[in-house]
Amino acid sequence: MLGMGTVGTEVIRFMTENAESLAARIGAPLELRGVAVRDLTKDRGIDPELLTADPSTLVSREDVDVVVELMGGIDVPRPLLLEALSHGKSVVTANKALLAEYTDELAEAVDATGTDLYFEAAVAGAIPVIGPLRRSMAGDQVERVVGIVNGTTNYILSEMGSTGADYSETLAEASRLGYAEADPTADVEGYDAAAKAAILASIAFHSRVTAGDVYREGISRISPDDFESARDMDCTIKLLAICEKLRRADGTEAVSARVYPALLPNSHPLAAVGGAFNAVVVEAEAAGRLMFYGQGAGGAPTASAVLGDVVAAARNKVGAGRAPGDSTYAALPVASMDEILTRYHVRMRVADKPGVLALVAAEFSNHGVSIAQCRQTEVEASTGEDDEVQPSAELTVLTHRASERALADTVAALSDQGAVTDITSVIRLEGVDTE
Ligand code: NAP
Ligand code: HSE
Repeated sequence: MLGMGTVGTEVIRFMTENAESLAARIGAPLELRGVAVRDLTKDRGIDPELLTADPSTLVSREDVDVVVELMGGIDVPRPLLLEALSHGKSVVTANKALLAEYTDELAEAVDATGTDLYFEAAVAGAIPVIGPLRRSMAGDQVERVVGIVNGTTNYILSEMGSTGADYSETLAEASRLGYAEADPTADVEGYDAAAKAAILASIAFHSRVTAGDVYREGISRISPDDFESARDMDCTIKLLAICEKLRRADGTEAVSARVYPALLPNSHPLAAVGGAFNAVVVEAEAAGRLMFYGQGAGGAPTASAVLGDVVAAARNKVGAGRAPGDSTYAALPVASMDEILTRYHVRMRVADKPGVLALVAAEFSNHGVSIAQCRQTEVEASTGEDDEVQPSAELTVLTHRASERALADTVAALSDQGAVTDITSVIRLEGVDTE
């Protein structure tokens, strides 16, 4: 074991408590040979002789068959796992950050030595989604994977939706309750979800997608007003990881992987996923729509996924089997955001005077963006520079499907219009079948 923190401690606990049944499932006992940690002085409730601050020696020891990496980070575990694989050890890891950058390198090492690499816990904690994609759905054609794969942001958005509180207040509460980390950037800015999206897209579409290929927006700009608009539309707002296969005009295929907060109809199965829970919806040609739901983080839930992989890796050692390999035969290119067509909800503050609605509509039309709905609400009049009272209104426009480029050009053109005093928010609408 490399690491005995939140997840590692629970893995060792369950491994010890359930030793007999695990041995029966594997056909041989699981024996803990050593645990690499930084702090050797801390009492961890295990035989101190097992602890080491020298992970490199541990991963190459002859009496080790399976290396379980639960340290986190990239630079320290990367050479350790390559070393473990080169010595013929199977590897189990929960490290999405490492996998989303270096799967190629790890997969090459796995192929070179005929070992196994398992990583169920790297995406959505306890929820089995990697296994189903790699094994159960290996005969199907996956078209789309859409998930709520970050519990911290789902907790924040769910709270904002139910209490009406703003983002900063809710983030502070999430930190107080231990959902958000001291530095919440990776979660709230979507980096954690983007790493998971890269892993899901790679497996689902047999191609190589890295975290850097994933378009990413976080949730820090979502406001209580956005939730009010969402409620008016019978929607909620969720941070979605969307991975899908696109068919280009020339008939070729590409993969789109993106993470952003989006309006989602309350009738969509992901809309009901509240609190820190995660869920992933997979759409495939033959299976249709499948949904996986559960706890996406936490020591014990994540340990469940890790131990499932440990059992699989150990069974392979006993029975000379192998894990499903890393398949990238399709080698689909990654599509740019400009190739994506989606619907947008644009909220803006405008001067409430004759001709403004026509002017706004003209900018959408000039850029080829079709309006599906438009709504005007009176807001408190503002006072201009010359102390003249200017009546104001809020305009919300819901578009039909449009390209990212066309929408960005429309927003830029609207911002240049004097009658448009502020573009308050632009949020995509997902989960609707209509154009
Ligand atoms: P954690 O609580 O921070 O524990 C990390 C462990 O690794 C600690 O025992 C630490 O040793 C050890 N460690 C770190 N750097 C080391 C080094 N250079 N040499 C030796 N030991 C080192 O982390 P965690 O929350 O358990 O997460 C572990 C992995 O699981 C991460 O990749 C994370 O992304 C993933 N994951 C976590 C969750 C979750 O809910 N926590 C869910 C899904 C996936 P000390 O104890 O001595 O500090
Ligand atoms: N920080 C992650 C989350 C958990 O909030 O879902 C680990 O993947």
